[in-house]
Amino acid sequence: MSGTAFNDGAVRKVGLVTGAGSGIGRAAAIEFARQGAAVAVLDIDVSAADETVEMIGRDDGEAVAIAVDIADEESVRAAVARAVAAYGGLDFAVNNAGMASHHRRLDQMTLDQFERVVHVNLAGTFLCMKYELPLLKCGGAIVNIASNGGLYAIPTAPAYVAAKHGIVGLTKVAAVDYAPNGIRVNAVCPGPTLTPGFEKVAAAAPGIDLIAMQASTTPLGRLATPEEAAAAAVWLCSDAASFVTGIALSVDGGRRA
Ligand SMILES: NC(=O)c1ccc[n+]([C@@H]2O[C@H](COP(=O)([O-])OP(=O)(O)OC[C@H]3O[C@@H](n4cnc5c(N)ncnc54)[C@H](O)[C@@H]3O)[C@@H](O)[C@H]2O)c1
Repeated sequence: MSGTAFNDGAVRKVGLVTGAGSGIGRAAAIEFARQGAAVAVLDIDVSAADETVEMIGRDDGEAVAIAVDIADEESVRAAVARAVAAYGGLDFAVNNAGMASHHRRLDQMTLDQFERVVHVNLAGTFLCMKYELPLLKCGGAIVNIASNGGLYAIPTAPAYVAAKHGIVGLTKVAAVDYAPNGIRVNAVCPGPTLTPGFEKVAAAAPGIDLIAMQASTTPLGRLATPEEAAAAAVWLCSDAASFVTGIALSVDGGRRA
């Protein structure tokens, strides 16, 4: 393969995507591979990660499945080390794995519920960055998948919104701290995106059609596809975004406007 963003014929870029067994993460892993990268597909659900690897393989792409629980430090350390060993380095990492939260107002939420959502989403992203940053090559890039909830309120989602705002904060600090190492760090903030994860949340929403409601409150009149959200992450990891660091890029069909 020659002349693609992640493979110029002489050098193939290598990277990892967390939560790549479904939704936005899977779409990102597939697109990186389509553009010539070798991709480590990390997920807590190993059979889902295997499926993504199979999909990439059917298209003659290069990928390997690796188990990880981003909420567990030893698991993250080992998974990042395995990803680096698999392809001999790390040019990019997309920290996408995360969980949705219970929909309730703050005073109705237990400390355990709050801490779990913040731990998986925020501490999980922190742990991934902690083990990726020292291994990333100069010229490398990290993209953290935050949310529109990283930029403004989503009613009845205090823990999720706090965690996603935290991810945007971590992204900005790391962008400044690691710029001297030639590493860029950005966040993508998707609006409602039609993934298996979102469909589960929608199915559990009592008495409302969440998908129709989100579509009707989005200026472009629909939800994003996983591929549309993933495309922003792939672009931010590419050299086409070589002077972009420390941003939180909305992919939200105009909601923020
Ligand atoms: N879908 C949306 O509307 C939307 C909007 C804004 C932000 N996001 C964010 O995008 C990211 C991906 O969301 P999605 O909708 O594609 O989700 P999804 O549920 O379809 O996929 C998430 C994947 O992450 C994996 N995962 C979950 N917990 C994990 C853990 N502890 N360690 C490793 N892997 C884990 C799951 O097994 C799954 O394969 C999440 O961070 C989510 O918060 C999604």
